[in-house]
Amino acid sequence: MHLQVKKAILPVAGLGTRFLPITKAIPKEMLAIIDRPMIQLIVEEALASGISQIILINGHHKGNIEDFFDTNYELNNVLAKKGDVANLKAVEKISNNGFICSLRQKEALGLGHAILCARPLIGNEPFAVLLGDDLIFTDAQTPPALAQLIENYYKTGIAQVALISVARAEIYKYGAAEGNVDPKNAHNFVINNLVEKPPQGTEKTDQAVVGRYVLTPAIWNILEKLPPSNDGEIQLTDALFKLMKVEGLMGYRFLGARVDAGDRIGYLRANLMHALLRPELRQDTISLMKELLQAN
Ligand code: UTP
Repeated sequence: MHLQVKKAILPVAGLGTRFLPITKAIPKEMLAIIDRPMIQLIVEEALASGISQIILINGHHKGNIEDFFDTNYELNNVLAKKGDVANLKAVEKISNNGFICSLRQKEALGLGHAILCARPLIGNEPFAVLLGDDLIFTDAQTPPALAQLIENYYKTGIAQVALISVARAEIYKYGAAEGNVDPKNAHNFVINNLVEKPPQGTEKTDQAVVGRYVLTPAIWNILEKLPPSNDGEIQLTDALFKLMKVEGLMGYRFLGARVDAGDRIGYLRANLMHALLRPELRQDTISLMKELLQAN
């Protein structure tokens, strides 16, 4: 029997340079997917996966992420006076749902460093990590991607990273997982090597690591001792490679469509996919897409 995965780290302290100039003043994770910030979708996925404590790793310039999960009394009073029960319920749900706390990463020294900041709040138990700009869409019949990874952690007792198949020519943008598909279960990928952003021409796999992880406490000492990589960042991939050597590491090929919403076209795609999944927006979105395609 493994300890329950109850806590999740959401690192949101990055600078969002791929999305400048807006990220000069507005955190990437606060950009709207139709009418809700992408961080809300990530928090909803975590809560729907059984997580009860969320730890945001934030940066000094991104305080409005915390504000978003706080109560806005003035707004609540206005909505209550107007009798706008639907909107009141929606905004109260955001501030009352789950336990969310926030820590500051004093400098954006990489994902590995961001995760290490949460060590005192997690301690000796397994935990999840969800990246603030990686959205994974699932249909109503499919459990959220994180829930799928947690379930596989309970089955195997091995730390999990989410994997997608990409074109080999694209793997240089990702952490690349080398290894083999488990012949008994095509979702499981037994990892025997991990390379952060392999230079083009050296690629040995089409399996890319994306932003959902279930990690074990063994990662803490590894991260603490890890030297920065050439770009000065503490790389999570380097720590995962060491974890693989010590305890093993499993890639999980989840069901769902992953979108990098920290990239401009990915962001556009995320908006369209989200609108298509909202029953009240679906038909109008299809009509709009048809209209635009015909006009172009
Ligand atoms: P990214 O590399 O996608 O985010 O990190 P970034 O650095 O903000 O974006 P670009 O590449 O410059 O456009 C994935 C997630 O990890 C967080 C980011 O906020 C993002 O949600 N992150 C990254 C941190 O919290 N701290 C870091 O030092 C780096």
